[in-house]
Amino acid sequence: MSEEIRTSIHGQWSSRMTFILAATGSAVGLGNIWKFPYITGENGGGAFVIVYLLCIAAIGIPIMMAEVMLGRRGRQSPINTMAALAAEEGRPAAWSLLGWLGVVAGFLILSYYSVIAGWALSYVFRAASGMFEGATADGVNSIFSEFISSPESMLAWHTIFMVGTMIVVARGVKNGLERAVVYLMPSLFILLIVLVFYAMSTGYFLEGLRFLFYTDFSKLTPHSVLIAMGHAFFTLSLGMGAIMVYGSYLPKDTSIAKASIMIAVADTLVALLAGMVIFPIVFANNLEPAAGPGLIFQTLPIAFGQMEAGVLIGTLFFVLLVFAAWSSSISLIEPAVAWLVENHGLSRVSASVILGALTWFMGIGSMLSFNIWSDKTLFGMNFFNFLDFLTANIMLPLGGLFIAIFAGWMMKTDSSRKELNTHKKGYNFWLMLVRIVAPVAVMVVFLNVTGVINLD
Ligand code: TRP
Repeated sequence: MSEEIRTSIHGQWSSRMTFILAATGSAVGLGNIWKFPYITGENGGGAFVIVYLLCIAAIGIPIMMAEVMLGRRGRQSPINTMAALAAEEGRPAAWSLLGWLGVVAGFLILSYYSVIAGWALSYVFRAASGMFEGATADGVNSIFSEFISSPESMLAWHTIFMVGTMIVVARGVKNGLERAVVYLMPSLFILLIVLVFYAMSTGYFLEGLRFLFYTDFSKLTPHSVLIAMGHAFFTLSLGMGAIMVYGSYLPKDTSIAKASIMIAVADTLVALLAGMVIFPIVFANNLEPAAGPGLIFQTLPIAFGQMEAGVLIGTLFFVLLVFAAWSSSISLIEPAVAWLVENHGLSRVSASVILGALTWFMGIGSMLSFNIWSDKTLFGMNFFNFLDFLTANIMLPLGGLFIAIFAGWMMKTDSSRKELNTHKKGYNFWLMLVRIVAPVAVMVVFLNVTGVINLD
Protein backbone atom coordinates (compact mmCIF):
# COMPACT_ATOMS: atom_id res chain seq x y z
CA MET A 1 0.00 0.00 0.00
CA SER A 2 1.31 3.42 -0.81
CA GLU A 3 1.00 6.27 1.65
CA GLU A 4 -1.36 8.14 -0.70
CA ILE A 5 -4.21 5.68 -0.62
CA ARG A 6 -4.07 5.50 3.12
CA THR A 7 -7.14 7.50 3.95
CA SER A 8 -10.44 5.88 4.72
CA ILE A 9 -13.25 5.88 2.15
CA HIS A 10 -15.52 6.84 5.04
CA GLY A 11 -13.72 10.14 5.57
CA GLN A 12 -11.33 11.54 8.12
CA TRP A 13 -11.63 13.45 11.40
CA SER A 14 -11.34 17.15 10.84
CA SER A 15 -8.70 17.46 13.51
CA ARG A 16 -6.81 15.66 16.23
CA MET A 17 -9.19 17.14 18.76
CA THR A 18 -12.19 15.65 16.96
CA PHE A 19 -10.68 12.22 17.27
CA ILE A 20 -9.97 12.67 20.96
CA LEU A 21 -13.50 13.88 21.55
CA ALA A 22 -15.07 11.08 19.53
CA ALA A 23 -12.99 8.43 21.24
CA THR A 24 -13.70 9.96 24.65
CA GLY A 25 -17.36 10.08 23.68
CA SER A 26 -17.14 6.39 22.91
CA ALA A 27 -15.32 5.56 26.12
CA VAL A 28 -17.40 7.65 28.53
CA GLY A 29 -20.84 6.17 28.72
CA LEU A 30 -23.06 3.90 30.74
CA GLY A 31 -19.94 1.92 31.58
CA ASN A 32 -18.66 4.75 33.77
CA ILE A 33 -21.82 5.96 35.41
CA TRP A 34 -24.14 2.97 35.46
CA LYS A 35 -21.88 -0.08 35.33
CA PHE A 36 -18.77 0.91 37.27
CA PRO A 37 -20.63 1.76 40.50
CA TYR A 38 -22.82 -1.32 40.46
CA ILE A 39 -20.06 -3.82 39.74
CA THR A 40 -17.84 -2.10 42.31
CA GLY A 41 -20.71 -2.53 44.77
CA GLU A 42 -21.13 -6.17 43.87
CA ASN A 43 -17.43 -6.89 44.14
CA GLY A 44 -16.75 -5.33 47.50
CA GLY A 45 -15.19 -1.96 46.62
CA GLY A 46 -11.53 -0.96 47.18
CA ALA A 47 -9.54 -3.99 46.05
CA PHE A 48 -11.73 -4.32 42.98
CA VAL A 49 -11.17 -0.66 42.13
CA ILE A 50 -7.39 -1.02 42.43
CA VAL A 51 -7.36 -4.00 40.09
CA TYR A 52 -9.52 -2.06 37.64
CA LEU A 53 -7.12 0.91 37.77
CA LEU A 54 -4.11 -1.36 37.26
CA CYS A 55 -5.81 -2.96 34.27
CA ILE A 56 -6.51 0.46 32.76
CA ALA A 57 -2.86 1.47 33.09
CA ALA A 58 -1.05 -1.74 32.20
CA ILE A 59 -3.44 -3.36 29.73
CA GLY A 60 -5.94 -0.72 28.61
CA ILE A 61 -3.66 2.12 27.56
CA PRO A 62 -1.15 -0.01 25.60
CA ILE A 63 -3.96 -1.90 23.87
CA MET A 64 -5.72 1.34 23.07
CA MET A 65 -2.53 2.58 21.41
CA ALA A 66 -2.30 -0.70 19.50
CA GLU A 67 -5.91 -0.44 18.32
CA VAL A 68 -5.59 3.15 17.15
CA MET A 69 -2.34 2.31 15.43
CA LEU A 70 -3.76 -0.72 13.58
CA GLY A 71 -6.79 1.28 12.53
CA ARG A 72 -4.79 4.20 11.23
CA ARG A 73 -2.49 1.90 9.30
CA GLY A 74 -5.30 -0.20 7.82
CA ARG A 75 -7.74 2.64 7.13
CA GLN A 76 -10.74 0.34 6.77
CA SER A 77 -13.30 -1.48 8.87
CA PRO A 78 -11.60 -3.70 11.46
CA ILE A 79 -12.31 -6.84 9.42
CA ASN A 80 -10.64 -5.46 6.31
CA THR A 81 -7.97 -3.64 8.28
CA MET A 82 -6.89 -6.89 9.90
CA ALA A 83 -6.94 -8.67 6.53
CA ALA A 84 -4.88 -5.91 4.90
CA LEU A 85 -2.35 -5.66 7.70
CA ALA A 86 -1.98 -9.44 7.95
CA ALA A 87 -1.22 -9.51 4.21
CA GLU A 88 1.18 -6.59 4.52
CA GLU A 89 3.06 -8.29 7.35
CA GLY A 90 3.01 -11.72 5.68
CA ARG A 91 0.72 -13.28 8.29
CA PRO A 92 -2.25 -15.65 7.83
CA ALA A 93 -5.46 -14.16 6.46
CA ALA A 94 -7.27 -15.70 9.43
CA TRP A 95 -6.32 -12.58 11.41
CA SER A 96 -9.40 -10.97 9.91
CA LEU A 97 -11.39 -13.21 12.29
CA LEU A 98 -10.36 -10.76 14.96
CA GLY A 99 -12.46 -8.19 13.14
CA TRP A 100 -15.38 -10.61 13.10
CA LEU A 101 -15.11 -11.30 16.80
CA GLY A 102 -15.37 -7.56 17.33
CA VAL A 103 -18.37 -7.13 15.07
CA VAL A 104 -20.26 -9.83 16.97
CA ALA A 105 -19.22 -8.43 20.36
CA GLY A 106 -20.30 -4.93 19.36
CA PHE A 107 -23.66 -6.17 18.17
CA LEU A 108 -24.30 -8.12 21.38
CA ILE A 109 -23.18 -5.25 23.63
CA LEU A 110 -25.28 -2.69 21.81
CA SER A 111 -28.36 -4.91 22.15
CA TYR A 112 -28.39 -4.60 25.94
CA TYR A 113 -26.70 -1.20 26.08
CA SER A 114 -29.68 0.26 24.28
CA VAL A 115 -32.07 -1.25 26.82
CA ILE A 116 -30.23 0.42 29.72
CA ALA A 117 -29.88 3.67 27.78
CA GLY A 118 -33.66 3.43 27.40
CA TRP A 119 -33.93 3.38 31.20
CA ALA A 120 -31.86 6.56 31.38
CA LEU A 121 -34.04 8.15 28.71
CA SER A 122 -37.22 7.39 30.61
CA TYR A 123 -35.64 8.83 33.76
CA VAL A 124 -35.20 12.16 32.00
CA PHE A 125 -38.97 12.46 31.99
CA ARG A 126 -39.43 11.10 35.47
CA ALA A 127 -36.94 13.64 36.83
CA ALA A 128 -38.50 16.48 34.84
CA SER A 129 -42.01 15.66 36.05
CA GLY A 130 -40.94 16.28 39.64
CA MET A 131 -41.73 12.67 40.52
CA PHE A 132 -38.68 12.44 42.77
CA GLU A 133 -39.34 15.55 44.82
CA GLY A 134 -39.04 14.67 48.48
CA ALA A 135 -38.71 11.00 47.56
CA THR A 136 -37.49 8.44 50.05
CA ALA A 137 -35.30 5.44 49.31
CA ASP A 138 -38.39 3.23 49.37
CA GLY A 139 -40.33 5.49 47.05
CA VAL A 140 -37.51 5.65 44.52
CA ASN A 141 -37.07 1.92 44.73
CA SER A 142 -40.70 1.18 43.99
CA ILE A 143 -40.68 3.59 41.03
CA PHE A 144 -37.76 1.62 39.62
CA SER A 145 -39.22 -1.84 40.25
CA GLU A 146 -42.48 -0.82 38.71
CA PHE A 147 -40.67 0.49 35.64
CA ILE A 148 -38.56 -2.58 34.95
CA SER A 149 -41.45 -4.94 35.52
CA SER A 150 -43.23 -3.41 32.55
CA PRO A 151 -41.82 -4.69 29.25
CA GLU A 152 -44.10 -2.42 27.19
CA SER A 153 -42.72 0.89 28.37
CA MET A 154 -39.17 -0.45 28.43
CA LEU A 155 -39.59 -1.56 24.83
CA ALA A 156 -40.72 1.90 23.81
CA TRP A 157 -37.62 3.56 25.33
CA HIS A 158 -35.29 0.91 23.92
CA THR A 159 -36.80 1.52 20.49
CA ILE A 160 -36.41 5.29 20.72
CA PHE A 161 -32.78 4.99 21.78
CA MET A 162 -31.97 2.52 19.02
CA VAL A 163 -33.56 4.73 16.38
CA GLY A 164 -31.53 7.67 17.69
CA THR A 165 -28.34 5.64 17.42
CA MET A 166 -29.06 4.53 13.90
CA ILE A 167 -29.84 8.07 12.76
CA VAL A 168 -26.42 9.26 13.86
CA VAL A 169 -24.67 6.23 12.41
CA ALA A 170 -26.51 6.64 9.11
CA ARG A 171 -25.35 10.25 8.82
CA GLY A 172 -21.74 9.25 9.43
CA VAL A 173 -20.01 9.46 12.74
CA LYS A 174 -18.29 12.71 11.91
CA ASN A 175 -21.26 14.79 10.95
CA GLY A 176 -23.48 13.77 13.75
CA LEU A 177 -22.68 13.77 17.37
CA GLU A 178 -19.18 15.14 17.22
CA ARG A 179 -20.30 18.72 17.35
CA ALA A 180 -22.59 18.06 20.26
CA VAL A 181 -20.01 16.09 22.19
CA VAL A 182 -17.81 19.17 22.47
CA TYR A 183 -20.33 20.70 24.87
CA LEU A 184 -21.92 17.66 26.39
CA MET A 185 -18.88 15.88 27.77
CA PRO A 186 -17.61 18.88 29.75
CA SER A 187 -21.16 19.53 31.01
CA LEU A 188 -21.47 15.98 32.26
CA PHE A 189 -18.18 16.39 34.06
CA ILE A 190 -19.28 19.61 35.74
CA LEU A 191 -22.60 18.12 36.78
CA LEU A 192 -20.84 15.16 38.35
CA ILE A 193 -18.75 17.57 40.37
CA VAL A 194 -21.93 19.34 41.53
CA LEU A 195 -23.23 15.95 42.62
CA VAL A 196 -20.00 15.21 44.47
CA PHE A 197 -20.73 18.34 46.54
CA TYR A 198 -24.17 16.96 47.31
CA ALA A 199 -22.56 13.65 48.30
CA MET A 200 -20.30 15.57 50.68
CA SER A 201 -23.35 17.05 52.36
CA THR A 202 -24.83 13.63 53.17
CA GLY A 203 -22.40 13.08 56.03
CA TYR A 204 -21.40 9.76 54.50
CA PHE A 205 -18.81 10.99 52.03
CA LEU A 206 -15.88 9.46 53.87
CA GLU A 207 -17.66 6.19 54.18
CA GLY A 208 -18.19 6.25 50.42
CA LEU A 209 -14.53 7.02 49.80
CA ARG A 210 -13.50 4.29 52.16
CA PHE A 211 -15.65 1.81 50.29
CA LEU A 212 -14.13 2.88 46.97
CA PHE A 213 -10.51 3.06 47.99
CA TYR A 214 -9.89 1.07 51.15
CA THR A 215 -8.16 -2.01 49.87
CA ASP A 216 -8.89 -5.33 51.43
CA PHE A 217 -7.44 -7.92 49.09
CA SER A 218 -8.91 -10.79 51.07
CA LYS A 219 -12.26 -9.93 49.49
CA LEU A 220 -10.88 -10.36 46.01
CA THR A 221 -11.80 -13.53 44.14
CA PRO A 222 -10.46 -14.63 40.73
CA HIS A 223 -13.95 -13.97 39.47
CA SER A 224 -13.89 -10.31 40.59
CA VAL A 225 -10.45 -9.89 39.03
CA LEU A 226 -11.92 -11.10 35.73
CA ILE A 227 -14.77 -8.61 36.07
CA ALA A 228 -12.36 -5.76 36.85
CA MET A 229 -10.27 -6.61 33.81
CA GLY A 230 -13.31 -7.05 31.58
CA HIS A 231 -14.56 -3.68 32.72
CA ALA A 232 -11.26 -2.01 31.86
CA PHE A 233 -11.86 -3.15 28.28
CA PHE A 234 -15.53 -2.24 28.34
CA THR A 235 -15.10 1.24 29.74
CA LEU A 236 -12.32 2.15 27.29
CA SER A 237 -14.29 0.65 24.37
CA LEU A 238 -11.45 -1.75 23.67
CA GLY A 239 -11.16 -5.21 22.21
CA MET A 240 -13.82 -5.07 19.53
CA GLY A 241 -12.56 -2.64 16.92
CA ALA A 242 -14.49 0.48 17.98
CA ILE A 243 -11.33 2.40 18.72
CA MET A 244 -9.68 0.76 15.71
CA VAL A 245 -12.35 2.08 13.37
CA TYR A 246 -12.10 5.53 14.98
CA GLY A 247 -8.34 5.29 14.50
CA SER A 248 -8.88 4.59 10.83
CA TYR A 249 -10.33 8.09 10.43
CA LEU A 250 -7.34 9.65 12.18
CA PRO A 251 -4.97 12.00 10.35
CA LYS A 252 -1.38 10.93 10.08
CA ASP A 253 0.28 13.48 12.31
CA THR A 254 -1.49 12.81 15.59
CA SER A 255 0.39 11.42 18.58
CA ILE A 256 -1.34 8.15 19.36
CA ALA A 257 0.30 7.81 22.77
CA LYS A 258 -0.76 11.22 24.05
CA ALA A 259 -4.29 10.85 22.73
CA SER A 260 -4.70 7.40 24.30
CA ILE A 261 -3.51 8.57 27.69
CA MET A 262 -5.82 11.58 27.63
CA ILE A 263 -8.81 9.41 26.75
CA ALA A 264 -8.06 6.86 29.45
CA VAL A 265 -7.54 9.52 32.13
CA ALA A 266 -10.78 11.32 31.28
CA ASP A 267 -12.69 8.06 31.27
CA THR A 268 -11.28 6.96 34.62
CA LEU A 269 -12.01 10.31 36.25
CA VAL A 270 -15.64 10.14 35.22
CA ALA A 271 -16.00 6.63 36.67
CA LEU A 272 -14.35 7.57 39.97
CA LEU A 273 -16.50 10.70 40.27
CA ALA A 274 -19.60 8.61 39.67
CA GLY A 275 -18.50 6.26 42.45
CA MET A 276 -17.88 9.20 44.77
CA VAL A 277 -21.44 10.37 44.15
CA ILE A 278 -23.23 7.04 44.40
CA PHE A 279 -21.69 5.35 47.45
CA PRO A 280 -22.24 8.16 49.96
CA ILE A 281 -25.90 8.13 48.90
CA VAL A 282 -25.99 4.36 49.30
CA PHE A 283 -24.65 4.52 52.86
CA ALA A 284 -26.63 7.59 53.88
CA ASN A 285 -29.83 5.78 52.99
CA ASN A 286 -28.92 2.35 54.26
CA LEU A 287 -29.04 0.89 50.79
CA GLU A 288 -27.28 -2.19 49.53
CA PRO A 289 -24.07 -1.46 47.51
CA ALA A 290 -24.60 -4.78 45.72
CA ALA A 291 -28.07 -3.84 44.48
CA GLY A 292 -27.09 -4.65 40.89
CA PRO A 293 -27.90 -2.94 37.58
CA GLY A 294 -30.57 -0.72 39.14
CA LEU A 295 -28.09 0.93 41.52
CA ILE A 296 -27.89 4.41 39.98
CA PHE A 297 -31.63 4.47 39.36
CA GLN A 298 -32.27 3.66 43.00
CA THR A 299 -29.76 6.12 44.47
CA LEU A 300 -29.45 9.27 42.38
CA PRO A 301 -33.17 10.09 42.40
CA ILE A 302 -32.99 10.29 46.20
CA ALA A 303 -30.33 12.97 45.83
CA PHE A 304 -32.35 14.82 43.22
CA GLY A 305 -35.39 14.60 45.46
CA GLN A 306 -33.59 16.18 48.40
CA MET A 307 -31.32 18.78 46.90
CA GLU A 308 -31.94 22.39 45.96
CA ALA A 309 -33.02 22.64 42.29
CA GLY A 310 -33.18 18.85 42.17
CA VAL A 311 -35.71 18.75 39.35
CA LEU A 312 -33.47 20.80 37.10
CA ILE A 313 -30.23 19.06 38.08
CA GLY A 314 -31.82 15.62 37.88
CA THR A 315 -33.29 16.24 34.46
CA LEU A 316 -30.04 17.65 33.18
CA PHE A 317 -28.10 14.73 34.60
CA PHE A 318 -30.19 12.10 32.85
CA VAL A 319 -30.12 14.11 29.61
CA LEU A 320 -26.33 14.14 29.73
CA LEU A 321 -26.23 10.45 30.62
CA VAL A 322 -28.33 9.69 27.56
CA PHE A 323 -25.95 11.70 25.40
CA ALA A 324 -22.96 9.92 26.90
CA ALA A 325 -24.64 6.60 26.09
CA TRP A 326 -25.49 7.83 22.62
CA SER A 327 -21.94 8.80 21.72
CA SER A 328 -20.85 5.36 22.94
CA SER A 329 -23.49 3.32 21.20
CA ILE A 330 -22.58 4.62 17.76
CA SER A 331 -19.07 3.25 18.14
CA LEU A 332 -20.40 -0.22 18.97
CA ILE A 333 -22.00 -0.56 15.56
CA GLU A 334 -19.62 1.52 13.42
CA PRO A 335 -17.24 -1.40 12.65
CA ALA A 336 -20.12 -3.48 11.27
CA VAL A 337 -21.53 -0.55 9.29
CA ALA A 338 -18.14 0.27 7.79
CA TRP A 339 -17.74 -3.35 6.74
CA LEU A 340 -21.17 -3.56 5.09
CA VAL A 341 -20.40 -0.39 3.16
CA GLU A 342 -16.96 -1.62 2.08
CA ASN A 343 -17.79 -5.20 1.18
CA HIS A 344 -21.41 -5.16 0.17
CA GLY A 345 -21.71 -1.75 -1.39
CA LEU A 346 -24.53 -0.77 0.95
CA SER A 347 -25.18 2.88 1.68
CA ARG A 348 -24.61 3.95 5.27
CA VAL A 349 -28.34 4.39 5.60
CA SER A 350 -29.26 0.84 4.56
CA ALA A 351 -26.42 -0.64 6.59
CA SER A 352 -27.62 1.24 9.67
CA VAL A 353 -31.24 0.25 9.22
CA ILE A 354 -30.45 -3.44 8.79
CA LEU A 355 -28.04 -3.62 11.71
CA GLY A 356 -30.22 -1.46 13.91
CA ALA A 357 -33.23 -3.69 13.37
CA LEU A 358 -31.25 -6.82 14.22
CA THR A 359 -29.73 -5.26 17.32
CA TRP A 360 -33.09 -3.93 18.45
CA PHE A 361 -34.59 -7.39 18.17
CA MET A 362 -31.75 -8.97 20.11
CA GLY A 363 -32.23 -6.35 22.83
CA ILE A 364 -35.70 -7.66 23.56
CA GLY A 365 -34.07 -10.70 25.18
CA SER A 366 -32.21 -8.51 27.68
CA MET A 367 -35.26 -6.41 28.28
CA LEU A 368 -37.35 -9.43 29.18
CA SER A 369 -34.72 -10.81 31.52
CA PHE A 370 -35.65 -8.02 33.96
CA ASN A 371 -39.24 -9.21 34.12
CA ILE A 372 -41.02 -12.13 32.48
CA TRP A 373 -37.83 -14.05 31.69
CA SER A 374 -36.11 -13.30 34.98
CA ASP A 375 -36.14 -16.95 35.98
CA LYS A 376 -34.81 -18.22 32.66
CA THR A 377 -31.08 -18.83 33.02
CA LEU A 378 -28.08 -19.67 30.89
CA PHE A 379 -25.06 -20.93 32.85
CA GLY A 380 -26.79 -19.71 35.98
CA MET A 381 -27.29 -16.16 34.66
CA ASN A 382 -30.30 -14.42 33.21
CA PHE A 383 -30.05 -13.45 29.56
CA PHE A 384 -28.84 -9.90 30.23
CA ASN A 385 -26.20 -11.03 32.74
CA PHE A 386 -25.11 -13.77 30.41
CA LEU A 387 -24.64 -11.41 27.44
CA ASP A 388 -22.83 -8.92 29.60
CA PHE A 389 -20.55 -11.60 31.02
CA LEU A 390 -19.84 -13.18 27.64
CA THR A 391 -19.03 -9.89 25.93
CA ALA A 392 -17.30 -7.78 28.59
CA ASN A 393 -15.45 -10.53 30.39
CA ILE A 394 -14.67 -13.01 27.61
CA MET A 395 -14.95 -11.54 24.12
CA LEU A 396 -13.37 -8.13 24.79
CA PRO A 397 -10.33 -9.43 26.72
CA LEU A 398 -9.90 -12.13 24.07
CA GLY A 399 -10.09 -9.54 21.29
CA GLY A 400 -7.65 -7.37 23.23
CA LEU A 401 -5.27 -10.28 23.70
CA PHE A 402 -5.12 -10.91 19.96
CA ILE A 403 -4.81 -7.21 19.20
CA ALA A 404 -1.81 -7.07 21.55
CA ILE A 405 -0.28 -10.17 20.00
CA PHE A 406 -0.74 -8.85 16.48
CA ALA A 407 0.61 -5.39 17.25
CA GLY A 408 3.45 -6.71 19.40
CA TRP A 409 4.55 -9.89 17.67
CA MET A 410 3.06 -10.15 14.19
CA MET A 411 3.82 -6.66 13.01
CA LYS A 412 7.38 -5.79 12.16
CA THR A 413 8.73 -3.38 14.74
CA ASP A 414 9.66 -1.15 11.83
CA SER A 415 6.00 -0.81 10.95
CA SER A 416 4.75 -0.19 14.46
CA ARG A 417 7.56 2.20 15.32
CA LYS A 418 6.86 4.25 12.24
CA GLU A 419 3.13 4.32 12.84
CA LEU A 420 3.36 5.23 16.52
CA ASN A 421 6.11 7.71 15.81
CA THR A 422 7.01 8.32 19.42
CA HIS A 423 10.41 8.64 21.10
CA LYS A 424 12.50 5.54 21.54
CA LYS A 425 12.00 5.02 25.27
CA GLY A 426 8.24 5.39 25.02
CA TYR A 427 8.14 3.00 22.09
CA ASN A 428 10.16 0.34 23.87
CA PHE A 429 8.02 0.63 26.96
CA TRP A 430 4.87 0.25 24.88
CA LEU A 431 6.36 -2.73 23.06
CA MET A 432 7.13 -4.47 26.34
CA LEU A 433 3.58 -3.84 27.53
CA VAL A 434 1.84 -5.20 24.41
CA ARG A 435 4.29 -8.04 23.92
CA ILE A 436 4.42 -9.34 27.44
CA VAL A 437 2.53 -7.56 30.20
CA ALA A 438 -0.89 -7.28 28.56
CA PRO A 439 -1.05 -10.78 27.00
CA VAL A 440 0.30 -12.48 30.11
CA ALA A 441 -2.06 -10.57 32.38
CA VAL A 442 -5.10 -11.46 30.27
CA MET A 443 -4.09 -15.10 30.08
CA VAL A 444 -3.34 -15.38 33.79
CA VAL A 445 -6.72 -13.91 34.67
CA PHE A 446 -8.49 -16.25 32.25
CA LEU A 447 -6.65 -19.33 33.45
CA ASN A 448 -7.05 -18.42 37.07
CA VAL A 449 -10.78 -18.15 36.68
CA THR A 450 -11.14 -21.45 34.93
CA GLY A 451 -9.14 -22.91 37.80
CA VAL A 452 -6.31 -24.23 35.64
CA ILE A 453 -3.83 -22.41 37.82
CA ASN A 454 -4.59 -21.03 41.19
CA LEU A 455 -2.72 -18.04 42.50
CA ASP A 456 -4.16 -18.07 46.01
N1 TRP B 1 -17.14 2.38 26.67
C1 TRP B 1 -18.55 2.57 26.63
C2 TRP B 1 -19.04 2.79 28.05
O1 TRP B 1 -18.28 2.80 28.96
C3 TRP B 1 -19.28 1.44 25.97
C4 TRP B 1 -18.70 1.09 24.65
C5 TRP B 1 -18.72 1.85 23.54
C6 TRP B 1 -17.96 -0.04 24.36
N2 TRP B 1 -18.02 1.23 22.54
C7 TRP B 1 -17.54 0.06 23.02
C8 TRP B 1 -17.60 -1.15 25.10
C9 TRP B 1 -16.76 -0.92 22.45
C10 TRP B 1 -16.84 -2.12 24.52
C11 TRP B 1 -16.39 -2.01 23.21
O2 TRP B 1 -20.20 2.97 28.27
